[in-house]
Amino acid sequence: MYVCICQSVTDSDIREAVNEGVRDMRELFDKTGCSTGCGCCAEFAGEVFFEALREQGNFLKVVQSA
Ligand code: FES
Repeated sequence: MYVCICQSVTDSDIREAVNEGVRDMRELFDKTGCSTGCGCCAEFAGEVFFEALREQGNFLKVVQSA
């Protein structure tokens, strides 16, 4: 499913970025281009991103390091 229409970023792209080691939203935006257009997808992109981190068991590591 498309998360970011402006940059054609899908939920799979976000999960792949997490698999490749992306651990914060800035990194995600830099790597995928997500939210670099109109920006209206940022909240949904965050939801998908944190869900992907939780699924991989990395959510607590990110929160603890913040
Ligand atoms: S929909 Fe993502 S930047 Fe516009």
